Amino acid sequence: MQETIDKYTREINEFAKTTAEELESFRIKFLGTKGIIKDLFEQFKTVGPEEKRTFGKVLNQFKQLAETKYNELKESLGGAEEGAKSEGDLTLPGEGFAIGSRHPLSLVRNEIIDIFKRLGFVVAEGPEIEDDWHNFSALNFPEEHPARDMQDTFFIKKNSGKDDIALRTHTSSVQVRMMENGKPPFRAIMPGRVYRNEAISARAHCFFHQVEGLYIDENVSFADLKQTLYHFVQELYGEGTKVRFRPSYFPFTEPSAEMDVSCTICKGSGCNMCKYTGWVEILGCGMVDPNVLENCNIDSKKYTGFAFGMGIERITNLKYVIRDLRLFSENDVRFLEQFQTEII
Ligand code: PHE
Repeated sequence: MQETIDKYTREINEFAKTTAEELESFRIKFLGTKGIIKDLFEQFKTVGPEEKRTFGKVLNQFKQLAETKYNELKESLGGAEEGAKSEGDLTLPGEGFAIGSRHPLSLVRNEIIDIFKRLGFVVAEGPEIEDDWHNFSALNFPEEHPARDMQDTFFIKKNSGKDDIALRTHTSSVQVRMMENGKPPFRAIMPGRVYRNEAISARAHCFFHQVEGLYIDENVSFADLKQTLYHFVQELYGEGTKVRFRPSYFPFTEPSAEMDVSCTICKGSGCNMCKYTGWVEILGCGMVDPNVLENCNIDSKKYTGFAFGMGIERITNLKYVIRDLRLFSENDVRFLEQFQTEII
């Protein structure tokens, strides 16, 4: 019996760092209900009375050794065991993960759409590859007229003018499609990407984003145009933002105007964003030219309307003080991460 105990004592002493499963087999082997210690205690019952004294002590020491060893190893496994437990515990909170942020142009586009939606405007979309009619002719750009050079066009197919296919230079083409396919009244905005053949620099790009708007009904006047855009600017840049209209020219509107707002950065006192004038231009607008209405089969004696168009990049630059247009399309996360994160 002494020999057996010595052998197992060595085994226990040598038993070191272990896994949870190995420790469990250790427990079963020595401390289990059918384990070695239980067995030794059974044998102990059969030894003679004088041996009982010595073996009793040895046996108890051996039992203690096994128990201490087991407890020590269990404790050292503690941390790892906890880990294993939490992997399986579905009620614990999950780890957070980055969901990214909206592109600044999307944020501003959505804001513009929201403002006009509250005024009852719907959103209309159209193709980015357009024919000459929808991008130019229907909008009162005469053929071979220099007005077509106002917008440097990327032609996909250049034929005789009338059959040209091009990347749309503005979303006014969507206005034409809407008027051709429906009946007045119309109250809609047209957000979308547009293309112009310009050298890329901090101030110009070969594509940018617009929101154009169209309002056609009986008795629509320039006063309606002014009030609608005035309201838009108060919503976008805050109460008290001033507006002014300067006469301008577009083939599809008559009269035409450009609208300036008091500089959103310096509030009109002068800074390099507004070139020390206190004003910044944000959009073009005007009363829809009767020729355009007639081109789209709308009775220009009965209906009048206004249209406007703005570049989202420009509005965004003023809102976030961004001075280089190229940042919008370079996908540099250090730039993109700085904008409001949407919680989905
Ligand atoms: N389509 C014009 C542009 O892209 C903007 C505009 C729209 C001007 C409607 C007046 C009326 O420059």
